[in-house]
Amino acid sequence: MNLAQFLAELESLQSEAAAAFGSAADAAALEEARIEFLGAAKGRLKATQKGLGAVPKEDKPAAGKRFNEVKTAIEAAFAAGQERIASAAVETKAGPRFDPTLPGEPLRLGRLHPITQTIEELKDIMGRLGFTAADGPEIEDEYHNFEALNIPQEHPARDPLENFYLSVASGQSPVVSRQLPTDNGQRRLLLRSQTSTVQIRVMEKRQPPVRIISLGRVYRPDEADATHYPMFHQMEGLLVDRHVTMADLKSVLRMFATSYLGEDVHIRFRPSFFPFTEPSVEADMHWHDRWIEFGGAGMVDPNVLSAVGYDPEVYSAFAFGLGIERLCMRRHGITDIREFYRNDIRFLAQF
Ligand code: PHE
Repeated sequence: MNLAQFLAELESLQSEAAAAFGSAADAAALEEARIEFLGAAKGRLKATQKGLGAVPKEDKPAAGKRFNEVKTAIEAAFAAGQERIASAAVETKAGPRFDPTLPGEPLRLGRLHPITQTIEELKDIMGRLGFTAADGPEIEDEYHNFEALNIPQEHPARDPLENFYLSVASGQSPVVSRQLPTDNGQRRLLLRSQTSTVQIRVMEKRQPPVRIISLGRVYRPDEADATHYPMFHQMEGLLVDRHVTMADLKSVLRMFATSYLGEDVHIRFRPSFFPFTEPSVEADMHWHDRWIEFGGAGMVDPNVLSAVGYDPEVYSAFAFGLGIERLCMRRHGITDIREFYRNDIRFLAQF
């Protein structure tokens, strides 16, 4: 092999190696090319180096110099290939670029519980009739849940089996007690059994005229079944002014029911008894050809007005209390109150 042949061989080896390292698509292809050209045992550079021995002696220095240059160049081409593939891998890891043509991921929106939705709607309807919403505590004392509502100490409505009394040891959280807790000279506490408590709390603070509703949870130790649940919601209404009559009560209830159910609803009163109203009625509504129990109502007992410092000779008042679950069930044809509290998304998502 003469010098010219040897140099030509080096030339083509260098350009082939540069092409292979420059085009290798991934680390595996690059490694394959490395073995082909730079492999220690059978690499083509090694094979070419062997040809150096066949070059005439006087040409050896020139041939050796050129060989070293080509070897350095091929190694550099390999290193460049390595770098190119490594930075491509980093780009892939950073994730695919944003593709605006792909469909978006739909957001799963939550929704309000049907009872919450009903509460909002009731507030809205009653708001248009001039009633503003008032709140009261769910942990109440005996005075607001009973006494001020004309329910005396011995009244069966105060029985511990009908109520969630709380026993409160000092420094500890209250716990529900199935027996009447000792009063320790203080008013006993209980989970309120009716929203009528809020009537008292509002009248204690304000002077007539009063036109409020109060919507919230109430608690009674009932066994849960299709129509009972130990916790449910009521809407209380109270209107205090001069010359308020049962006729006002009836027309407010009728306007309310008509707005909520979307049809002309008739209201009927049946005589009933509540300690804090006189006369007291059960209000029924006629809807879809049936009479349906709507809730309790009546003219606020003069004793209750006096207890909050209103003059019953000057002011009169009506009050009503409706079950919110029952209203919502009627409207949507729900037949089991427990559905509201099972937390089954398939039920709740329908509203
Ligand atoms: N608080 C009564 C109940 O829970 C309902 C009611 C409210 C009756 C206001 C009359 C007036 O049964």
